[in-house]
Amino acid sequence: MHLSSYPVLGLLLPIACVATLYEAIEDLPATTYDFVIVGAGAGGTVLANRLSENANTKVLLLEAGPSNLGVTDSIIPMLPQGLAVTTYDWNYTTTPQSGFAGRSINYPRGRLLGGSTSTNTMAYTRASNEEWDRYAKLTGDDGWSWDNMQKFMLMNEKFVASADGHNTTGQYDPSLHSTTGMTTQELSEDWPFNLDMNSGSMLGIGWPQQSIATSARSSGATAYLAAEFMSRSNLHVLVNAHVTRILQTGTDSGKPAFRSVEYTTADVPTGGTSTAPRTVVNATKEVILAAGAIGTVQILKLSGIGPQAELSALGIKTILNNPSVGANLTDHPLLSNLFYVNSNETFDSITMNGTLTEEDIAIWNATQQGPLVDSPLAHLGWARVPSNPYGPDTTAGPTTPHYEILFSNGFLSTTTPLPSSGHFMTIVSAITSPAARGTVTLTSTNPFIQPNIDPNMLGTDYDMYLMESAVTAILKIAAADAWKGYIIKPFEDLAAATTPDALKAYIQAKSATIFHPACTAAMSPKGASWGVTDPDGVVKNLSGLRIIDASILPVIPSAHPQAVIYFLGERGASLVKTQYGL
Ligand SMILES: Cc1cc2nc3c(=O)[nH]c(=O)nc-3n(C[C@H](O)[C@H](O)[C@H](O)COP(=O)(O)OP(=O)(O)OC[C@H]3O[C@@H](n4cnc5c(N)ncnc54)[C@H](O)[C@@H]3O)c2cc1C
Ligand SMILES: *[C@@H]1O[C@H](CO)[C@@H](O)[C@H](O)[C@H]1NC(C)=O
Ligand SMILES: *[C@@H]1O[C@H](CO)[C@@H](O)[C@H](O)[C@H]1NC(C)=O
Ligand SMILES: *[C@@H]1O[C@H](CO)[C@@H](O)[C@H](O)[C@H]1NC(C)=O
Ligand SMILES: *[C@@H]1O[C@H](CO)[C@@H](O)[C@H](O)[C@H]1NC(C)=O
Ligand SMILES: *[C@@H]1O[C@H](CO)[C@@H](O)[C@H](O)[C@H]1NC(C)=O
Ligand SMILES: *[C@@H]1O[C@H](CO)[C@@H](O)[C@H](O)[C@H]1NC(C)=O
Ligand SMILES: *[C@@H]1O[C@H](CO)[C@@H](O)[C@H](O)[C@H]1NC(C)=O
Ligand SMILES: *[C@@H]1O[C@H](CO)[C@@H](O)[C@H](O)[C@H]1NC(C)=O
Repeated sequence: MHLSSYPVLGLLLPIACVATLYEAIEDLPATTYDFVIVGAGAGGTVLANRLSENANTKVLLLEAGPSNLGVTDSIIPMLPQGLAVTTYDWNYTTTPQSGFAGRSINYPRGRLLGGSTSTNTMAYTRASNEEWDRYAKLTGDDGWSWDNMQKFMLMNEKFVASADGHNTTGQYDPSLHSTTGMTTQELSEDWPFNLDMNSGSMLGIGWPQQSIATSARSSGATAYLAAEFMSRSNLHVLVNAHVTRILQTGTDSGKPAFRSVEYTTADVPTGGTSTAPRTVVNATKEVILAAGAIGTVQILKLSGIGPQAELSALGIKTILNNPSVGANLTDHPLLSNLFYVNSNETFDSITMNGTLTEEDIAIWNATQQGPLVDSPLAHLGWARVPSNPYGPDTTAGPTTPHYEILFSNGFLSTTTPLPSSGHFMTIVSAITSPAARGTVTLTSTNPFIQPNIDPNMLGTDYDMYLMESAVTAILKIAAADAWKGYIIKPFEDLAAATTPDALKAYIQAKSATIFHPACTAAMSPKGASWGVTDPDGVVKNLSGLRIIDASILPVIPSAHPQAVIYFLGERGASLVKTQYGL
């Protein structure tokens, strides 16, 4: 392993400045647009950009959070871990999780231009070819297949030199073998080296590709809302605009139409209430929801679209009774496995020392270089369990992983407090093909109160078995000769996990999320009796309403999802343009 140099391949475009960004309702020059897009994350920023390519198409993008510009913790790649409990995040909490021994966990979602792409850890994975081919099968739309998605993937990716300036030859190019890492070679039967995990075939250990543009985060905001696009006079972006509902505007061929969006720019904290006046903006063609797997469900349900019993209990009139809205919430459980190491060259020197952190931020400010230009991720590995005694296989096929491991050159945990001293390595395990399904349900008609979020983490024996298998594999890696003299011993909680019962208790006590909620308003084939949208994102049995974000995925990808959702955005935009002849 090359522990002191993180490989980073940047993607997308550099930082934006702004022309048509509005901060107040009064400034917005129109009340009617062709398209009104709700939420400026991975899905919404792509739609806003692509639909406004045609100068005659008027597009409004509404975002609850503020601008991304000047938000240092979002810009500098090493810093976003701190954003989870700030005003740049929705600061959600889950319901008690039985798979986590009854713990509730913090559930971050980005709340600024770029959405979670402005706060995430920047790992960039396309998912396997089998995954996309399964999407095609589950939706009955061959357009979602791996082969047919290639052109949309290429529309999203733009490789640039590595952020820290190191030579990336051999990290995604088969011609060189010297950077493969010792552990991989030693354990090659379990962990073959994978030169490019974005080739369609993911299994093995390799170098991560990341959404970093030379030295700063590349997000939906910095790329798709860059200055050259914000200068389009037909694209308006309103920040601080919390959408409270969408409204029925009539019926088209017997179907309820939803072409009005109600929102407020009152500054209401999560859980607060607001009597400030609501504003309505109309779309002549479509309203497109891209508020993410939690936000989109909350808006649908507040608008009378969802399971009738749940809505009636809160006094909300049901306009479309669809039990699939908010069902099947799926996420990837994560566990930070920590080890003491014999080195002074870990990022702990920075994270445990506020003075040094400030010095390194100053270096980045002055030079756009220094130790903070990389993310904390060093290598990613993807693997399968040979068999699972607890149920049918959940993966899309035999070359799609059940779990992922992530190497980090320091102490990285959301459940164990950072010690005041020491040097560490973290090998994260994440279950990427879980069987458990959860829900997003409303608890209130107040749009500023978060819905109940129950991702049902490790809620099946199947998922627990995968996590136990992943931790066991990590312990085997850590015990390999290649680490002799480097890894000293496991951290306290992991060190105590010496029996099957203790291992399970450790997993339940320390697991959390890798922040990938999805599947709460799933696509299904046209005419299906379940699901929320057709394969083009159009909401079933309604008119004028489409969804393009993580909620429409029929199954969670065994991958980091941001690229997958960018690709949904690219194809979604293409389908909209075709439908309206744009
Ligand atoms: C901490 C963290 C780390 C992550 N790390 C990675 C990673 O390394 N790699 C990876 O691939 N993925 C990662 N992800 C996940 C990835 O970022 C998300 O899956 C992806 O951004 C989801 O796209 P989306 O469009 O569905 O939602 P989002 O990107 O979350 O965008 C939704 C947008 O809608 C806005 N919104 C919500 N409700 C309303 C409302 N009522 N009114 C107006 N606006 C609203 C939100 O503020 C937000 O801007 C991470 C996520 C987090 C939070
Ligand atoms: C986040 O939520 C926690 C717990 O619910 C709360 O204590 C904290 O004040 C919130 N932070 C912000 C910035 O809203
Ligand atoms: C990168 O490394 C390769 C292999 O060592 C070498 O051939 C190439 O010249 C290097 N490139 C640069 C720009 O140094
Ligand atoms: C929006 O549409 C609704 C329903 O058609 C209509 O009553 C309202 O006047 C429209 N608002 C604007 C600002 O055009
Ligand atoms: C949940 O997903 C499964 C398929 O994965 C589907 O059969 C089922 O109908 C979904 N549940 C709801 C309530 O939509
Ligand atoms: C780390 O630094 C300490 C204090 O300077 C020193 O004693 C120790 O030998 C160093 N360890 C390594 C592995 O370099
Ligand atoms: C913290 O960083 C400062 C600045 O580099 C340095 O002078 C100091 O020795 C560091 N403190 C510790 C405990 O390492
Ligand atoms: C770095 O720049 C940001 C934005 O200009 C500023 O807020 C911050 O104080 C600077 N930090 C340091 C340590 O120089
Ligand atoms: C859509 O309407 C049709 C016809 O009424 C019905 O059969 C179908 O179940 C509905 N689908 C959903 C998801 O509500």
